[in-house]
Amino acid sequence: MKVSIIGTGYVGLTTGVCLGFLGHKVTCIDTDEKKIALLRSGKTPIYEPFLTELMAAAQPNLQFCTEYAGAVKNADVIFIAVGTPPSPDGSPDLRYLSEAARGIGKHYDGDFLVVVNKSTVPIGSGNWVGSLVRESFEQQHGHKANGHFSVASNPEFLREGSALHDSLYPDRVVIGSDNNRALEVLYSLYRPILDQTFAPPPYLPRPEGVGAVPLISTDLASAELIKYAANAFLATKISYINEIGQLAEKVGADIAQVAKGIGLDARIGTRFLQAGIGWGGSCFGKDTSALVATAREYSLGMPIVEAAREVNRRQRDRVVEKLLGELKILKGRTIGLLGLAFKPNTDDLREAPAIDIARKLLERGCKVKVHDPVALERFEREYPDLAVVCCESPEDTADDVDALVLVTEWQEYRELNWEVIASRMRTPLILDGRNALDRSRLERFGFRYLGIAG
Ligand code: UDX
Repeated sequence: MKVSIIGTGYVGLTTGVCLGFLGHKVTCIDTDEKKIALLRSGKTPIYEPFLTELMAAAQPNLQFCTEYAGAVKNADVIFIAVGTPPSPDGSPDLRYLSEAARGIGKHYDGDFLVVVNKSTVPIGSGNWVGSLVRESFEQQHGHKANGHFSVASNPEFLREGSALHDSLYPDRVVIGSDNNRALEVLYSLYRPILDQTFAPPPYLPRPEGVGAVPLISTDLASAELIKYAANAFLATKISYINEIGQLAEKVGADIAQVAKGIGLDARIGTRFLQAGIGWGGSCFGKDTSALVATAREYSLGMPIVEAAREVNRRQRDRVVEKLLGELKILKGRTIGLLGLAFKPNTDDLREAPAIDIARKLLERGCKVKVHDPVALERFEREYPDLAVVCCESPEDTADDVDALVLVTEWQEYRELNWEVIASRMRTPLILDGRNALDRSRLERFGFRYLGIAG
C-alpha cells in the first residue's frame, strides 16, 4: 500500500518506519528541511531505541520530502502526525493540523483516499479535518470532493522509549471512521501487525505469548475518545498511587508493597502503579487538560481527571518540601538533579518534572547541578536561560552537593558506584524521586535516604 505521513515527530516517524518495515511504500513529509536532510542521511532527529536500525532496515521502502504534491497524489492513505502543542491557554494549537489538511485537499487528485488523524487531536477534529480537506479540494479543482476521501482516526498508544516495540506489538489497534471503505483500507494496512505475520527484527524480538492483536473498528468519535480516556485513566492511576503514597508515608506503610498488593488483583493490574514525582511528557498533561476542556464545552465537569492533575502538580512541590524538611535552609545550598528527561530512554523534555523542580529550587536560592545521559544537549538548546550547572557525569554532579535528587530512573543511575558518589558529596543525602534505588544498599554507604512516599 502507498502511505504518506505528514510530520516526522515521534509519532509520525515511528509510524512511517514501522509501516515501511512491514513492506508498505512510505513517504514522510516535513516542512523542516534540516530534519528531512538528516533523515535522508540515515540519521534520526530524535532519540528512540532502535529507530536508526529499523529505519535502515526499512530504507528501500522509505522516502523523505518537504513537498506535499507527489506524496499526496499517489497515496492510498495519508497520516497526519503533526504537532498539536499546547497554546498559552492550554488548548491545543491546531495550526499545523489545519495546514496539513489544506495541503492534502490542494494536492490530491480525487482517487479514494483515507486521511488518518494520528496526532492527538480534540474530539470532533475528524469532522473538522474533513471539512478543511473538502474546502481546499473544491477551491483547487472547482468541483465537489464528495465520496472521494474519508477521514479516520487511528490513535497511537506508543510510549516514548519503547515506541517501536509498542507499534509492532500493540495491545490493540483502534481505527474509527464513519465510512466502511476507509475502515477496510486501514484493516489491510495493519494486517501484518494484527496477524503478527512479519519476521521480527533481531533487536525487537516478538515477546513470548504475543498472538493476534485485537482490532477495535469503530466510529470516528469513539476512536477519538478512546485515546483521551486511555491516557486520562493511566494518568489517574499514577496520581492515585501517589495519593495513597502520601498516606503510606504518614502511617509508615511501604508504598511499593502496597502497589504490588493491590496490583496483583487482575482487575487492577500492576502496571502504572509506580509512585514517585509523577507524570510528565507530551501526552498526559495535554490530554487530561484537553479532556476537561472538551467536557466543559458540553457543561460537564470532570472532577476525577482534575483531581489527578492537581495531585500530579503537588508531587513536584513535595520534592522541595522534603529537601526543606531535611536541610532546613535551602538558600545557598547546592542540589544535584540526576535525570532531566521526563522518563528514561528518551531525550524528551516536554513537561519534564526536572525542569519544574530546578526552577523551584532556583527560586529558593539554591545552586542547581544537573545531569542526564541523553537529554543534556537538548536541555542546553531548549532552556538556555535556566541558570543551572550542566555536568558531564553523575560523579561531577555529586561534587560538593548538599543533596542529590533522582528525578529520572535511568538504568545507568541504578548501577552507579554509590560509595564513590557519597564520597564526593558535601552531605550524603539522596531523595529518590522514583523510589527506584536500593535503600538498604545506599544506607550501607552512609546515605541518608528519602523516598518520595516514605
Ligand atoms: C503515554 C502513554 O503511555 C501512551 O500510551 C500514549 O500514547 C502517550 O503517552 P509516554 O508519555 O511516552 O506515553 O510515557 P509513559 O510511559 O506513559 O509515562 C508517562 C509519565 O508517567 C512519565 O513521566 C513516567 O515517569 C510516569 N509514570 C509512569 C509514573 O510516574 N509511574 C508509573 O507507574 C508509570
